[in-house]
Amino acid sequence: MGRTIAVSGSASGIGRAVAALLRERGDEVIGVDLRDADVLADLSTPEGRARAVEGVLERSGGTLDGVVACAGVAGATTLTVKVNFFGLVAMLEGLRPALARAGKPRVAVVGSISGTQPLDEAVLRACLDGDEEAALAAADAAMEKGAGLRLYPSSKSALAQWMRRVAVGPQWAGEGIALNAIAPGVVRTAMTEALFADEAMVKVMDEAVPMPLNGYADPEVIAAALCWLVSPENSHMAGQIIYVDGGAEATLRGPEVF
Ligand code: NAI
Repeated sequence: MGRTIAVSGSASGIGRAVAALLRERGDEVIGVDLRDADVLADLSTPEGRARAVEGVLERSGGTLDGVVACAGVAGATTLTVKVNFFGLVAMLEGLRPALARAGKPRVAVVGSISGTQPLDEAVLRACLDGDEEAALAAADAAMEKGAGLRLYPSSKSALAQWMRRVAVGPQWAGEGIALNAIAPGVVRTAMTEALFADEAMVKVMDEAVPMPLNGYADPEVIAAALCWLVSPENSHMAGQIIYVDGGAEATLRGPEVF
């Protein structure tokens, strides 16, 4: 029987591929995005986050089998912190009671290989404290210092750490909700289109994210892994970050992780 799954960022790239694959499998998808979606909502604002939660609850009837959280932005601005961390966390927390009512609830979020890159400690700490005002002030300070490029890795590291912290707690694992992340390497989507158009950026990207196994990925590759994470089959994985990155994380961090 089909499941009802909310997908944020469903209008483009990885989220669009997830929505297509889930529909192909017979699931009902509730897409959330700024445009071309079932629920139109801006996850960068408190009002938009509330609208996203209300819209999904209305369409799902208050019981939700899964969420795949793909919405994200990559700019060196405060928007990145608002959407990638606070938007995603608010949406998941708002939908958690509806997930807890389902038989086999699953959540998958999209992290990033960028978590291996230098980040801004003050932004990271404020995110993990759940203090958006402090996080945005720290992000402004980082931009003033010319360290705006640290905001994206900071937002994704904060997301990964938040996910690992709560996934095994009473509200998620304790309620039977499997919460995990996929961390992609470089994926060919609208987000990376401009980078691919610039030879110098391609060189920087290849050095930062070496992908010895099959190179850059198409969004469908990441979607397949996300869809497995929200399937009933995934009964025992909690708080894991699965790198679907052509071997980038293992190359960068080396074998000694235990
Ligand atoms: P994309 O740009 O193709 O899709 C992102 C989607 O998020 C868009 O449909 C956009 O409208 C939506 N979105 C952006 N801001 C929003 C907001 N305020 N409210 C609601 N929706 C919003 O990008 P892509 O590549 O599919 O990215 C999906 C996720 O994958 C992001 O979280 C990104 O950080 C992550 N990622 C992407 C990589 C890549 O190489 N493309 C690598 C690693 C992670």
